[in-house]
Amino acid sequence: MLQTSLEPDPTPTLRAAAVRRAPVAVTGIQASGRAHLGNFLGLIRPALALAGSHDAHYFIADAHALTTLRDGAALRRHTREIAATWLALGLDPHRTTLYRQSDLPEVFELAWILACYTGKGLLNRAHAYKAAVAANRAAGRADDHGVTGGMFGYPVLMAADVLLLAADVVPVGLDQKQHVEIAREIGASFNAVHGRVLTLPEPLIDRRVATIPGLDGRKMSKSYGNVVPIFAEPDELRRLVGRIVTDSRPAVAPKDPERCSLFALYRHLAQPAAVAALRARYLEGGVAYREVKEELVELLDAAFGPARVAYRTLMADPAELERLLATGAERARGRAAPVINRVRATVGLG
Ligand code: TRP
Repeated sequence: MLQTSLEPDPTPTLRAAAVRRAPVAVTGIQASGRAHLGNFLGLIRPALALAGSHDAHYFIADAHALTTLRDGAALRRHTREIAATWLALGLDPHRTTLYRQSDLPEVFELAWILACYTGKGLLNRAHAYKAAVAANRAAGRADDHGVTGGMFGYPVLMAADVLLLAADVVPVGLDQKQHVEIAREIGASFNAVHGRVLTLPEPLIDRRVATIPGLDGRKMSKSYGNVVPIFAEPDELRRLVGRIVTDSRPAVAPKDPERCSLFALYRHLAQPAAVAALRARYLEGGVAYREVKEELVELLDAAFGPARVAYRTLMADPAELERLLATGAERARGRAAPVINRVRATVGLG
């Protein structure tokens, strides 16, 4: 999207240089399950806010999900779920480019080329791979037990996602920061050989929502099985919120809001005045966790109820979702074309 200055330009010959593009934001969500509250607070909400001032390209990372998912029907369903989630929560597909990663075959081509510029040692240091090795060692297994080439190369595919679209910024949750740094490093390795071909992106992290606690108090994550799906029906919401772990202080006892997962979730969703009021009730004592849980369920239902209806409608019309994704893919491929063409020409392919 072009954003031109309203001031008359006194030097028409320089006008082309003075025209400012809106910065390009690119991010993805892996299609490995239903989107949850951690995804919403840590990524979707800040990314939707960013789309107002950026040329935003948001995608569903279906190819990344292959590292853990081997059920084609489930992958297709999760892809549509994530697409419907973005749209139901307010993504405007006319303004923001929404697409499915695998609809851009250029991503896979670039990933291979970039892999040839990526030190293996760099991938050895990626957090997810190191965690897998550490878990294997702790269990007395070989370091690379169960580690596939896809898992090891995950950061390279991610670098291709963002470098292909010449992203300026990549909004991500804190857990993905290292991946964006690796993308920069890979892009810099390519540029070190060939000159400034690739745009190096910056991670954009909303520190206020760096870690969203899950039902068990650990970070909310699909891999811990402690998530609250954004569009859970009220019954499921009530059951899940009921499971949130609290300490065993009785209603009359004063409580520490800073060490309570219930309060942390409430704080990210409620208006500031309501948060201040609940904080005071915690500190004074007299509030039972059961009551707070009821209030949190109400808050979640009020926050996501209308979007849940939109989500159901979108999910009921797969053909329309596919049409929207196809339009997005076409736009994204248009942006990708000059980058991949330049890379091909540079390295001598095609
Ligand atoms: N790895 C990200 C996640 O698990 C998803 C993702 C894939 C992504 N490619 C990306 C995020 C590119 C930002 C940019 O959440």
